[in-house]
Amino acid sequence: MSIHEDVQYVLLTEEQIAKRVQELGAVLEAKYADRSPLAVCILRGSAVFFSDLIREMNVPLTTDFMRVSSYGNATHSSGNIQILTDLSEDITGKEILLVEDIIDSGNTLYKLKNFLLLKGAKEVFIVTLLDKPARREADITADLSGFTIEDEFVVGYGLDYAEKYRNLPYVGVLKPSVYQK
Ligand code: IMP
Ligand code: MG
Repeated sequence: MSIHEDVQYVLLTEEQIAKRVQELGAVLEAKYADRSPLAVCILRGSAVFFSDLIREMNVPLTTDFMRVSSYGNATHSSGNIQILTDLSEDITGKEILLVEDIIDSGNTLYKLKNFLLLKGAKEVFIVTLLDKPARREADITADLSGFTIEDEFVVGYGLDYAEKYRNLPYVGVLKPSVYQK
């Protein structure tokens, strides 16, 4: 059984993603030249993007990880987030690079950004691999975005459906039959 069989079509190829991640890394490297930002990975969806992105940034950054509540098995956000795993260090006065997989309603990031600023972060800069502006509910925009996509549910390169397909090396759309299982 191959996970690729469940994919209806590939939206972004491995090559397209790698090229764009290099470009984002270059922008961030210039932004943070001679500084030490804290790169925060939002688990679990951002893990793949995060690990590729930080290796494209030649700056003395440090890393930390957070987990916030997700959709469960549904394909839309409830608008209510919960911090499931908090940062492991004090962020007072820190410049934070918040790395997200996708901004959909924006509810997650809106709350997360405010949470980090309340905890004393000096700056919260948001980079997202994917942006779905058509579905925005919260008043938030990414400071840097990899790709703007249509209103469709995507998986791969870290993004899941019911916790699966995160290990697809590309971003794709699943066959409708997968949601009927
Ligand atoms: P938001 O709060 O609606 O912006 O949701 C953000 C989170 O929902 C993302 O970090 C993803 O984990 C998840 N999500 C939103 N859209 C998709 C999608 O198309 N595929 C997989 N996960 C998604
Ligand atoms: Mg996520």
